Amino acid sequence: MSERIYIFDTTLRDGEQVPGSQLTTEEKITIAKELEILGVDIIEAGFPVSSPGDFRSVIEISKAIREPIICALSRAKKEDIDAAGQALKYARLGRIHTGIGASDIHIRNKFNSTRELILEQAVAAVKHAKTYVEDVEFYAEDAGRADLQYLAQLTQAVIAAGATVVNIPDTTGYCLPDEYGQKIKYIYENVSNVHKATISIHCHNDLGLATANTLAGVMNGARQVEVTMNGIGERAGNTSLEEVVMAIRLHKELGLETTINAKRLFPVSQLVSKMMRMPVQANKAIVGRNAFAHSSGIHQDGFLKHSENYEIMNPHDVGVDKSSIVLTARSGRHALKHRLENLGYSFDKSELDTLYHSFLAVADIKKEINDGDLVDLVKAAA
Ligand code: KIV
Ligand code: ZN
Repeated sequence: MSERIYIFDTTLRDGEQVPGSQLTTEEKITIAKELEILGVDIIEAGFPVSSPGDFRSVIEISKAIREPIICALSRAKKEDIDAAGQALKYARLGRIHTGIGASDIHIRNKFNSTRELILEQAVAAVKHAKTYVEDVEFYAEDAGRADLQYLAQLTQAVIAAGATVVNIPDTTGYCLPDEYGQKIKYIYENVSNVHKATISIHCHNDLGLATANTLAGVMNGARQVEVTMNGIGERAGNTSLEEVVMAIRLHKELGLETTINAKRLFPVSQLVSKMMRMPVQANKAIVGRNAFAHSSGIHQDGFLKHSENYEIMNPHDVGVDKSSIVLTARSGRHALKHRLENLGYSFDKSELDTLYHSFLAVADIKKEINDGDLVDLVKAAA
């Protein structure tokens, strides 16, 4: 039996912090409904105290969504928690996500405080959030750079105060996978009440390690992952939902599962990209334009012999129509023959050889050869 990993989607909160990607309440509801169909467990709908618009969005998303838990962010401040609690009043299942900086860097430079005072503020915040909802998640901001013993002490204290989930964020994307995994392991081994809460992973991608760190976290016992579609988010972004879901799905030996309907990954990625005005980079894993495109001769030949030679998943499984064979000056005869056959042409070996040489001459100039170019080449050779 596989163990369940809970998918906490923060596209509408951390993802929406990207400059230029702000959404209207109506747009947020559209995305939230798609996330519900996708099968996420928790939707972080916004940061209600931050603006009247975000407050309204959390209310409207709470009314529109039935299955996932609706989560609202707050700092460890009474007015933030009050706003989050009020915004969640229509949620069938509501969660307040409250927290404070846990690293000495944050404690000194951001709060001009001490570890002891921060711990007291954290406990008070969790207790206050509990007056609104049963389900309270605590985030130990900048846990990636926090002292490990203090992190364990803080985790112990907030769980004792009633936190149901404790989030250990690598806020600055600093950790290496092994280091981050060891942090999670340390928490499991040194927090005596840890079994009363779920440990959550929230990684940023400043070193391009967010997905690797998230997987290291779950391999060391965490059971919730905080992710965004297309990996959007502050600075270099958050862990990408589609990458973690497919890594878990492909690596059965991990013994983990999610409830994500993977066939919805590509359509939801496209919707988020369009609505948030954030193009998906062509080589983005799973959902990028080139994720299932083969362009070099060696790869094309191998792929055409058997797709498993160069694909670790079927594009249909993630909602992509089909793999593509892109014709460039690096392509070989096998790919050219394949594309010509798709257009209804068939040639013997010597005809194909001739055509291939004219194809290369055009491809060197034109970079990518489309169906129209192929038809022109065939006509010119006739
Ligand atoms: O990166 C972070 O630490 C956050 C918290 C607010 C959870 O986004
Ligand atoms: Zn974050």
